[in-house]
Amino acid sequence: EAARKGGFEHFMLKEIFEQPDVFQQSFRLANGHNSTSMLLRRARGISVIACGTSYNASLLFRYFAEKECGVPVRVDLASEYRYLSTPEDEVVIAVSQSGETADTLSALKKAKDSNCQTIAITNVQGSSITRIADHTIYTGAGPEMSVAATKSYIAQVAAFSGLLAGMSCSDTSSVECSVRQAIEESLLTDVSEAVSLCSKVSTLFYVGRGIFYPVALEGALKMKEISYIHAEGYAAGEIKHGPFALLSKETPAVAVCLPGDGYQSMLANLREMKARGTPLIGIGYGDDIDLKEVADVCIPVPKGDAYAQVAAVTVVMQRIAYYTALALGRDIDKPRNLAKSVTVE
Ligand code: G6P
Repeated sequence: EAARKGGFEHFMLKEIFEQPDVFQQSFRLANGHNSTSMLLRRARGISVIACGTSYNASLLFRYFAEKECGVPVRVDLASEYRYLSTPEDEVVIAVSQSGETADTLSALKKAKDSNCQTIAITNVQGSSITRIADHTIYTGAGPEMSVAATKSYIAQVAAFSGLLAGMSCSDTSSVECSVRQAIEESLLTDVSEAVSLCSKVSTLFYVGRGIFYPVALEGALKMKEISYIHAEGYAAGEIKHGPFALLSKETPAVAVCLPGDGYQSMLANLREMKARGTPLIGIGYGDDIDLKEVADVCIPVPKGDAYAQVAAVTVVMQRIAYYTALALGRDIDKPRNLAKSVTVE
């Protein structure tokens, strides 16, 4: 077992460190899928169905696809898909690391029954999902032993970005290179101050805007899965519609505040939260004076394009969750009550 962990204390940490290579591998696999990129380019609409972490990766795809390719993308939780309509002319993408999640399989069957063209994105060769979908894209992250998904999430993000690059025929080498650098640097960033804040509380918020909203959802999911601390991912602009009532010095927030869409609004949201006593852990650029002024703890991420920013923030959040769970003595690779793959509806 120790040998399989490759010198790391947990599979989760080993898998976090595999992410620079995983991103590149998965990006290339998906980018080579010309027929699938073509199918998506011609689609009148794209629907994505998934659960858990795969759902968060799918939400992120929506932001990138709508911005880069102008295609409307609908993203649904697989377990809710049966209660919704399935337009016939859509291309439906089902995303599942294991390829065995019961809810995702039934949603995909429903899409097939409605004559939709279907694509599976999965990490497991020959898994059930590949036998249902018309086309399959493998993420190629390699076996993931930790119950909490890390490298398989980065692999899904990479697969989506590879597909989008294929759809828009854009240059791919710069994406690969900037993301690798961003992940490598973020594996070494000091997150100890954030961890000491997080490990003392029972509730946390994770907030972001635009592409960082789904990234915040995934950050919160990681935290609750392995540390058992209640963590809620929220769109920063929605905090005033309810969560304001909960804010106090006992409810820190991990906030993504990076230059780009929504940056000024994000700063304004942080000031509103700060005024209500919330300790802020800001993830942003190291030379951002405005962020430093409002945040109690600042975690710098390297400068880069949107994918590099997403990858860097993801890695930082994975490491905050990991070290918080470690500080609390949790069973990191096998959190209580959770399973790697959920084969019941
Ligand atoms: C379980 C796992 C999660 C995963 C979800 C969906 O809940 O613990 O890590 O995100 O299932 O799994 P899938 O294999 O379909 O991506």
